[in-house]
Amino acid sequence: MLKPIYSLVLFLFLSNFSFAQNASEVNIIPKPKQVTLTSGNFQFNPETVFVAQSEEEKQAAQVLIERFKEAVGWELQMTTETKAGNSVQFEKSGGLENEAYELKINENGAIITASGASGFLYGIESLRQLLPSEIENIQQTTSEVAWKVPALTIKDAPRFQWRGLMLDVSRHFFKKEYILETIDRLAFLKMNTLHLHLVDDQGWRIEIKKYPKLTEIGAFRVDQEDKAWNSRSENDPEEKGTYGGFYTQEDIKEIVAYAQKKGVTVVPEVEMPAHVMSAIASYPWLACDDTPIAVPSGGIWPITDIFCPGKETTFEFLEDVLTEVMALFPSEYIHVGDDEATKTAWESCASCQELMVKEDLENVEELQSYFMKRIERFVNAKGRKIIGWDEILQGGLPPSATVMSWQGVEGGWEASKQGHDVIMTPTFPLYFDRYQGNPDYEPLAFDGEITLKDVYDFDPVLDSMSVAQAQHVLGAQANLWSEYIPTEAISEFKIYPRLAAVAEMDWTPKTATDWSDFSKRAQHLMKRFELMGIQYSKSSYAVTAAADMDLENRKIKIKLENEFPRAEIRYTLNAPLDASAKRYKTPIELKKTTQLQAAVFKDGKQMGDTLTQDFKFHKAAGKQIDYLTKPHKNYPGNNSSLINVLRGSKNFHDGQWQAWINDAMEVVIDLGQTEEVKSISLGTLENQGSGIYFPVEIMVLVSQDGENFKKASTFSRAYKANSSSELKDFRVDFKAKKARFIKVIAKNATDIPNRGNGFLFVDEILVE
Ligand code: ACM
Ligand code: ZN
Repeated sequence: MLKPIYSLVLFLFLSNFSFAQNASEVNIIPKPKQVTLTSGNFQFNPETVFVAQSEEEKQAAQVLIERFKEAVGWELQMTTETKAGNSVQFEKSGGLENEAYELKINENGAIITASGASGFLYGIESLRQLLPSEIENIQQTTSEVAWKVPALTIKDAPRFQWRGLMLDVSRHFFKKEYILETIDRLAFLKMNTLHLHLVDDQGWRIEIKKYPKLTEIGAFRVDQEDKAWNSRSENDPEEKGTYGGFYTQEDIKEIVAYAQKKGVTVVPEVEMPAHVMSAIASYPWLACDDTPIAVPSGGIWPITDIFCPGKETTFEFLEDVLTEVMALFPSEYIHVGDDEATKTAWESCASCQELMVKEDLENVEELQSYFMKRIERFVNAKGRKIIGWDEILQGGLPPSATVMSWQGVEGGWEASKQGHDVIMTPTFPLYFDRYQGNPDYEPLAFDGEITLKDVYDFDPVLDSMSVAQAQHVLGAQANLWSEYIPTEAISEFKIYPRLAAVAEMDWTPKTATDWSDFSKRAQHLMKRFELMGIQYSKSSYAVTAAADMDLENRKIKIKLENEFPRAEIRYTLNAPLDASAKRYKTPIELKKTTQLQAAVFKDGKQMGDTLTQDFKFHKAAGKQIDYLTKPHKNYPGNNSSLINVLRGSKNFHDGQWQAWINDAMEVVIDLGQTEEVKSISLGTLENQGSGIYFPVEIMVLVSQDGENFKKASTFSRAYKANSSSELKDFRVDFKAKKARFIKVIAKNATDIPNRGNGFLFVDEILVE
């Protein structure tokens, strides 16, 4: 091993930073390609001027002028005359690539060199991130700060050309103002693509002049927001929808023009042939059988109400819609969806079958490929290109389609092998609708956890790709599906800070990325988010507890962790938690009932939520258990799951849960000796959207010999709709009894509307 002093020298040599006194002040995200610090700094004052000639230079200058106005109260001026000092100057250089920039700072000011609008903007955004974080304050002006930036030279350019975020505005509609704010934040992180998912089953969100019903009918659904997404009932097509909204063409023009100023391309997505119930509800002739349907209010699976390619009118409609869409969005790419189509309707549709014979198509996959190729020809004829989700590979790729790889990275690998461009957006780790930490502390979401570090560790270019394949990777994009995102606050919570990790993945050369270094800069960035009024997630600061039960010795060992390196974790046992609590160093051992509290602290301040876990050493802890009905194979747990003191979380895949759906749960606990018992508590979970329901009946029986059981008590309740995810212990009390064996029978809910049997999830049976 190298001696520490040598490894430090080596580190300084290998890193892109030349360290001078100000090294710690460079916290830019995404990390620039090259930073050379020199000595000294430049300090802004009310007389600092921006020297800008062209419109694009002025637009860039405006970003910082606005910050100084709002956060400091200064009205910094712009001029076209070259100034000797105290200035921020722009210089156009044809030698730099599109989006590249150079930023030079010395005592006299700053010079930003670029070849065009994006480079100037990114130079300004870097300068902004070099200023003290208070420059972001939107609440009040600050006068006590020295507005200094370190002297340095930055030479910077992006790794990928596609640096994107997708907002699903169909499942829940988001106001134009929120879209504009999001564009600012993309530009702040040097991201350049906003993909708007404008069409889906649950809402059509863009005004189309030729087809007004798309928004009169298709943009609104019956309000069932009080129920879990996947527990919402089917609507009557006659019932008028009241919940929803859409963008007028004027709104779209405003969004596109605003984005253009910020270097952001807005890519529209018009779904087809599936995920279009909102369109079919508006114009039933778009489907094979013309039957009226309603805009659904929640989850639909499988998706069988889809467009009919057997009718020419379907293509006329789509060409009309695309014509209006392309007139509004100048983007080179038009996303045409193509995911998750169940094509049973095509199998039995006379027009579809006729078309298949005429075009010599073997199966409905080839019919779908015919559909997309035809759409591609139309879009290409207008000088644009199509993007499709990775299902577009099935039945044959349209000749010049770009593929968005979402079902993992395989679709991206295959498409690039076939010589097509790809955008990487795999579910893990780029679906931002997933939890980013312990679900017990986050709003209800699709199950699955994607932490900040998970996002940061992803490389859009796979090790298994050839050089030629790698060249087809345009970049990566985060997708925020909004089934579980009814509000802007939750949307922000999901996007930030994870978007910062995507920004760096898309911008910074892989060799210059480093989690430990990023996590320091990310923590600075979070301060900026705070001042910007963004309701970002603090889940990266969450403490996770990995607990193991030693059954034989009735002893629990708990390891506490946080994803930031060298985090200061503090904890208490049976006491309130504060900054003076004990610093966690080595695993904690527990032998008796204890409440553990833990959190990350920094400079005496608590950074994230307090993790609270109760470890209850009840009478059945570590005893024998016999299963009279077996748990479901997907949630088998093990023979100690229900008596191991360890509790499950709202992440029902955490290994602590056992589940029953076809039979009631029926178990017998053997305490090993006769004891006095007077209650049992059944630890359960409800998450109706995932088919998990609280029990409807719990029966407790006791026995001395394990043969003859006597009923101690029965508890019952009725099934009730619940839109949240909830952990609950159902306690059944009875008159104290002497017993060695306890039989517990818990019945799962059955006859649930639109569902049938529900799952019963149990993590522990606490005996007292
Ligand atoms: C998708 O998530 N269906 C693209
Ligand atoms: Zn048809």
